[in-house]
Amino acid sequence: MAVSAFFIPSVNLMGAGALEDSVVRMSEYGYRRALIVTDPYPATLALADKVGGLLKARDIQSFVFSGVQPNPTTQNVEAGLEMLRANQCDVVISVGGGSPHDCAKGIALVAANGGKIADYEGVDRSAKPQLPLVAINTTAGTASEMTRFCIITDVSRHVKMAIVDKHTTPILSVNDPVAMATMPAGLTAATGMDALTHAVEAYVSTAATPITDACALKAVSLISASLRRAVANGQDMEAREQMAFAQFLAGMAFNNASLGYVHAMAHQLGGFYDLPHGVCNAVLLPHVEAFNAPSCAARLADVAVAMGAQASAEGALAAIRTLSADVGIPAGLTQLGVKLKDLPTLADNALKDACGLTNPIQPTHEQVVAIYRAAM
Ligand SMILES: [Fe+2]
Repeated sequence: MAVSAFFIPSVNLMGAGALEDSVVRMSEYGYRRALIVTDPYPATLALADKVGGLLKARDIQSFVFSGVQPNPTTQNVEAGLEMLRANQCDVVISVGGGSPHDCAKGIALVAANGGKIADYEGVDRSAKPQLPLVAINTTAGTASEMTRFCIITDVSRHVKMAIVDKHTTPILSVNDPVAMATMPAGLTAATGMDALTHAVEAYVSTAATPITDACALKAVSLISASLRRAVANGQDMEAREQMAFAQFLAGMAFNNASLGYVHAMAHQLGGFYDLPHGVCNAVLLPHVEAFNAPSCAARLADVAVAMGAQASAEGALAAIRTLSADVGIPAGLTQLGVKLKDLPTLADNALKDACGLTNPIQPTHEQVVAIYRAAM
């Protein structure tokens, strides 16, 4: 096989108390002026405040940019950059889920490399490492706190740009289940199904390796065992902790084996209708894997076994559908407001998404439209 590289932040903190530990490390790294990137939701703002207080106690000044939208945009990146430059920050700290992490990556990458974030669409387009990024995660999850993937919506084209760049890997990732306990049930369900999608797409990816396989299958079994509990009771700290590990393992898998057409197609729904990423993935996952099944039936049978289902591709699809329904994900795209007339345009854009390159089968435009239609 060709040489495969394995990307991961150099330090990754897990478990209750990881948040406090991360601030001690930032102080040891010698940072002095931090840009905190977050979204305007009360729970994340409160956490950003807490981080600001902990930083201050260690003599690190911080400036809060809380303008990140659920699907972060090119404008969000520009606004954050302006604040970073005005305050001469030497580190970026993202607080929240995938949206703040992705926006922070965009800010940190352009801060070090210049130009505009759209210049870096694609794979490894930047010349220099980004400004140091510490990612404090509150969802389980996109795993964006530990990946080299950065998804930014280009508002002029209504397209989600996939920026896959080794230089966007955070320097330090923080997964503290205590910070995840405030996540509402709907977000827990959507982000948990996103993590399941990462694991399944990485497992059937053409770039999978024995390392990513081990991470992916363990993630699938943990999600299958814990997601329902985390959704039913957000204060179930054991379930929260298992989901934190699961989403991180799924991140290790897809950060290195990449993804497939679930993400390539979900990104377009997110960019076009501003829909939640995890929900789009959850709806599309069984349909894309049904399309992939002829080329990866044995791998889907492994997924089925990891979910405690009958060892077959059909077993995996049924288990995914059941889990999705149990955590309250809508059954189809129609319920999300997707329109049949838009499907050809969505398919055009999905075919250009870098995430589709490692899908087990490269679909035609017609086939992508047919998968969207089946998911309606
Ligand atoms: Fe995702």
